[in-house]
Amino acid sequence: EKSGYEHFMMKEMFEEPKVIKDTLSPRIVDEGITLDNVNITAKDLENIDKIYIVACGTAYHAGVVGKYIIEKLARIPVEIDIASEFRYRDPLISDRNLVIIISQSGETLDTLVALKESKKRGAKTLSIVNVVGSSISRESDYVLYTWAGPEIAVASTKAYNTQLAALYLVAFNFAYKKGYIEDSAYKNYISQLKELPSKVEEVLKNKEVIQKFASKHYNAKSIFFIGRGLDYALSMEGSLKLKEISYIHSEAYAGGELKHGTIALIEKGTLVVCPVTQDDLIDKMVSNIREVKARGAVVMAITQEKNASIDKVADVVITIPDIDSLLAPVAAVTPLQLFAYYMAIEKGCDVDKPRNLAKSVTVE
Ligand code: F6R
Repeated sequence: EKSGYEHFMMKEMFEEPKVIKDTLSPRIVDEGITLDNVNITAKDLENIDKIYIVACGTAYHAGVVGKYIIEKLARIPVEIDIASEFRYRDPLISDRNLVIIISQSGETLDTLVALKESKKRGAKTLSIVNVVGSSISRESDYVLYTWAGPEIAVASTKAYNTQLAALYLVAFNFAYKKGYIEDSAYKNYISQLKELPSKVEEVLKNKEVIQKFASKHYNAKSIFFIGRGLDYALSMEGSLKLKEISYIHSEAYAGGELKHGTIALIEKGTLVVCPVTQDDLIDKMVSNIREVKARGAVVMAITQEKNASIDKVADVVITIPDIDSLLAPVAAVTPLQLFAYYMAIEKGCDVDKPRNLAKSVTVE
């Protein structure tokens, strides 16, 4: 069943190129983007004042990327909520809102209740779900399936990449309908979406470099992930993955927020992981790397090949192929998943079945 891989998690990471393609290609038709049965017209979009994205865990982290890209491209305000918080905070939802629900299993109870609550208050609901016929898919007005296939490992990997793929489709489709992207830019983005599977394929080839780094550092007591913009969203996911399977304490911080307190925790030998994929924020991130290096941190940076000279400031640089900053999270998450995997393996943890966790959380 593991097709020769030692763990489901590794098998599922190696499926990423295929499942990203499976999620994108049926929706890219005649050089345009269609969203299956999601019948949200330009007129409907005019009546949407705000989008809410609601999810838990890894799906929530995909939603944080979704907020950035939908706001940036489609210029609609997006609020992102953890489902268990959303449902109890009497959210300001009305028929002028669209609620996007993200869930791999489609059965997470808090997420399902948030969906029902949104419908009750008159919002339209669109869910990005992996399991066909799941409770969330059945309850939603619109469903955009991620075609990640069954995910067995408790730690979510390939589902996250496909959730991002689905969110890009939504963001580009809405942006185009609202007239915020021109034909030529739209076509250009679509051709870049089509290249995502091969980019992730390239990233997976770097696994030995990451394994080697993990074999040196698996005794770390605490690890910081820092990033800016989409790299901050990515840092949250990298940190969660590490915690849940390697049991190493870690935190994700926005690069600029570090000096407001947390930098006090950086000392000689502290490991800091830095995704640096956002062109307009590179200089700022390099300054952050210098700040932590000056306090003795060991830094692993993840960046596009074109920025490989970051190795002048970071201790180790993991490169991903050159890719537009907006799309970078799809390829840059894979090294973070591999890093969590190898740290857990080095520590002798059961990567597919981490302690205290269930694949699908159907209790409150
Ligand atoms: C982390 C992980 C969890 C899930 C969360 C939501 O690797 O798998 O954080 O992402 O429990 O689950 P779904 O997406 O099924 O609603």
